[in-house]
Amino acid sequence: MLSKKEIYKQAYAELSQRRLKRQLKKDMHLKHAVSVCPEIGELCSKLGKTSIKLSKSLLYNSDYQLKILNRISHENIKIQNEINELLIKNHLPRDFLFPKAECEKCDDYGFVNNEKCSCLIKLIKSIITEDLRKSSRFNLKSFDDFNLQFYSKEIDEPSQISPYEQMSKIFMICKEFANKFPYCSNGFVMCGLTGLGKTHLSLAIASEVISKGFTVIYSTSSEITRNMADRYFGHTTNSDVDYLNLIVESDLFILDDLGAEFDSSFNKSAIFDIFNSRTPLNRPTIINTNLYPEQLQARYGERVASRIFSTLDTFSFIGVDNRFRIGKKQ
Ligand SMILES: Nc1ncnc2c1ncn2[C@@H]1O[C@H](COP(=O)(O)OP(=O)(O)OP(=O)(O)O)[C@@H](O)[C@H]1O
Ligand SMILES: [Mg+2]
Ligand SMILES: [Zn+2]
Repeated sequence: MLSKKEIYKQAYAELSQRRLKRQLKKDMHLKHAVSVCPEIGELCSKLGKTSIKLSKSLLYNSDYQLKILNRISHENIKIQNEINELLIKNHLPRDFLFPKAECEKCDDYGFVNNEKCSCLIKLIKSIITEDLRKSSRFNLKSFDDFNLQFYSKEIDEPSQISPYEQMSKIFMICKEFANKFPYCSNGFVMCGLTGLGKTHLSLAIASEVISKGFTVIYSTSSEITRNMADRYFGHTTNSDVDYLNLIVESDLFILDDLGAEFDSSFNKSAIFDIFNSRTPLNRPTIINTNLYPEQLQARYGERVASRIFSTLDTFSFIGVDNRFRIGKKQ
């Protein structure tokens, strides 16, 4: 996992890249505009001269300064209008010579009035999300490579529905959840035997949600409980980045393999602290587990289980382990 210093370094490098890209675009556009209309070039160098005059005017006393400033700004507006007219005449957009910053609030510098701009905060979150994704061993999946033909059309006796029909329903709900995000349900518990596509579908949702610009934290319950124990017992190497806070604040949190973590009261309360801190914030959570509702209740207690099941919808995955179909046991 990245250190806080490294995260900021990457974020500033990205912002500087954005500014550089804009400058290059500006130069390229100017070159093009001058090639189709040389007069634009002359007007631009006139504009450049007025800014030199502007800085010189700061040397004069305030009355005189005001007069000069007024004159220069009139001059500037006049030149600007002439440039605009020439751009339109040559079928170029009005803002052609001044490409917009990706973030107009901070001009891609990352700060507004010495405060972090929302674009810098978003950038930091996405760097951390990406870092967690990389370190989580899993690659993002997509809905496109989820094959419903893997599920039998024969009725499954205990559930009285065919795996194909059940999984088609779950697939549609997951797609709709991702499409509507963040105006979606609170999330769900996906339960079922191994290899039925729980992780696959949750990572397909993650992929869509990330591409919409939201932050997603994906973690297995063993990883989280290990991380929290390290933090609690003081073994952490990353004390400068509050990952727990990031989990609580992430727009979507995916807790995979609930029930596979070491069974201890510390671990149980650690997981439910996270779940309970997210619930009031109305930020969706997806929980994957091999345990069925009654087993979850037996393991985590009725209070905790009822909290989960009253907040999240439950989907039962049915069918036969798909790992054998794709020819690799993971
Ligand atoms: N319907 C499907 N279409 C395509 N690939 C699938 C499908 N279901 C599962 N897979 C693939 O099979 C493998 C196992 O699936 P996945 O990890 O999603 O299962 P799981 O339900 O999370 O199992 P576990 O409970 O063991 O974690 C993955 O490589 C996944 O991409
Ligand atoms: Mg899984
Ligand atoms: Zn900004």
